[in-house]
Amino acid sequence: MDFDKELIRKLKEANSVVFFTGAGISAESGISTFRGKDGLWNKLKPEELANFDAFMRNPDMVWEWYQYRRNIISNTKPNAGHEAITKFEKYFDVTVVTQNVDNLHGRAGSKSIYELHGNIERNFCIQCRTFYNKNNFNSTQNVPKCSSCGGMIRPDVVWFGENLPQDVFSKAEQKAKECDICFIVGTSAVVYPAAYIPITAKQNGAYLVEINIEPTEITTSVDCSITGKAGEVLPELFGIVNKLDKV
Ligand code: APR
Repeated sequence: MDFDKELIRKLKEANSVVFFTGAGISAESGISTFRGKDGLWNKLKPEELANFDAFMRNPDMVWEWYQYRRNIISNTKPNAGHEAITKFEKYFDVTVVTQNVDNLHGRAGSKSIYELHGNIERNFCIQCRTFYNKNNFNSTQNVPKCSSCGGMIRPDVVWFGENLPQDVFSKAEQKAKECDICFIVGTSAVVYPAAYIPITAKQNGAYLVEINIEPTEITTSVDCSITGKAGEVLPELFGIVNKLDKV
């Protein structure tokens, strides 16, 4: 794979790098994306499954769907794309800002991760906000009740119409403002406010690099667009970085 000379020059100079990732980086781990050809939202209605009103209308159906997704995710593992990002930590101050709730960056061992849309391995009580991790409910098909207050327990993911965790978003935004290079990996970049992260990076002088199998909403705004699979491009790019005399 030939990489843009300007990108290599930027990598030589850079200190801090942000990886802004979406469902596409987990596609090679066998996890469906949302909007691609076989995307979840082509088959299922997000308004019936991924919002609070739907949960209140039919908590068992929503819970069962998240148990189904958890089951798929726990039977997969991080791929070469997730792993390559951890290797970039050898030469750069790396921050992962992800829209994914699958915890695969965490399982790959990335040290600095901001989960803008939560984490499917966590749950909390909608009444008293007691937190539970997923292992408490492995075999539970119906929505479990909180042992402290009896309230219903939901996955700790951001549903449509809900605010992102403000502290996580502000810290991620700060990292975007400070970074030298922002990689945009496997996202359609259409969901806001998450999609402001690469725009904020650009507005603060960062070099934007997109890695995707197809053009997206943000392609016309990036400095370098690489068409390819994250699990193939990122290891190759790290191979190049590893040969640069970076300390
Ligand atoms: N490598 C790189 N990119 C890929 C790969 C791959 N192997 N496979 C698919 N892609 C790209 C697709 O071309 C698409 O642009 O990944 C992108 C996935 O886009 P979406 O399915 O829209 O997922 P994402 O951008 O993460 O969605 C954002 O929307 O549904 C909500 O909360 C959910 O976090 C999610 C948010």
